[in-house]
Amino acid sequence: MTTKGGCLDGRVAIVTGAASGIGRATARRFADEGAHVVALDLKAPEAPAGGLGIACDVADQASVESAVAQAKERFGKIDVLAHFAGITKDALASKMTLQQWDDVIRVNLTGSFIVAQAVAREMEDGGSIVLTSSRSWLGNIGQANYSASKGGVVSLARTLALELGKRRIRVNALAPGFIETPMTDVVPDRVRDKAVSAIPLGRIGQPEEIAAVATFFASDESSYVSGQTLLIDGGRSVGVGLV
Ligand SMILES: NC(=O)c1ccc[n+]([C@@H]2O[C@H](COP(=O)([O-])OP(=O)(O)OC[C@H]3O[C@@H](n4cnc5c(N)ncnc54)[C@H](O)[C@@H]3O)[C@@H](O)[C@H]2O)c1
Repeated sequence: MTTKGGCLDGRVAIVTGAASGIGRATARRFADEGAHVVALDLKAPEAPAGGLGIACDVADQASVESAVAQAKERFGKIDVLAHFAGITKDALASKMTLQQWDDVIRVNLTGSFIVAQAVAREMEDGGSIVLTSSRSWLGNIGQANYSASKGGVVSLARTLALELGKRRIRVNALAPGFIETPMTDVVPDRVRDKAVSAIPLGRIGQPEEIAAVATFFASDESSYVSGQTLLIDGGRSVGVGLV
């Protein structure tokens, strides 16, 4: 394997949701840091140089197990999982259909379990798993399904950290605030403006700023950090009245 001299030199990293937004930015950053990236998304994404792109539905156990097997066969090991695949189907709880609830829980929460379980079984001891929660796990109007799914991810990361610690596998979660991606393109301007006014740093975040934290969790730079969820929200959750 070729190496490039970054903090993920020679590591094999599976990145889900890699066709868009935060996942795509992280796939690129991991490759820049020397990783061989296995990029997963519903349609096979373009993988960074030296990587592999595979079509995979994270809500489908057989699809995920097949993708993980292909990654292992191609690169011989798996060191890192960065799991970003996710969806929103927003509605006030009073109007939310059971289908909207089920779809979001299935992809965001059950998908996180399916992917983490399948990868952990094949992962090298000492590996790192990075899941994706959201600031919405604290609660967000119109997102009962999404908030509950992302709260579940926090608990999942904590439990996996306990269970996988004996293999020196670390498990952490990212909790981004408002990040500029196709997922948030649909947010109306008045909602966006209100959100920005509540962010101490005065702007929404960029996918690369989440990729930077994912790189920290994935690499040995965070070698004594496990079971944590980090809010990456420009300070929005700090201070009474801003949460
Ligand atoms: N953008 C934000 O403000 C924000 C904030 C907090 C958390 N997040 C979380 O970050 C993650 C990435 O979000 P993003 O903003 O980059 O969104 P995005 O819509 O740009 O990218 C999500 C990707 O996930 C893929 N995906 C969806 N369902 C899938 C499935 N079943 N199987 C495989 N792939 C699937 C999509 O095809 C897409 O490429 C998500 O988990 C999201 O909930 C985003």
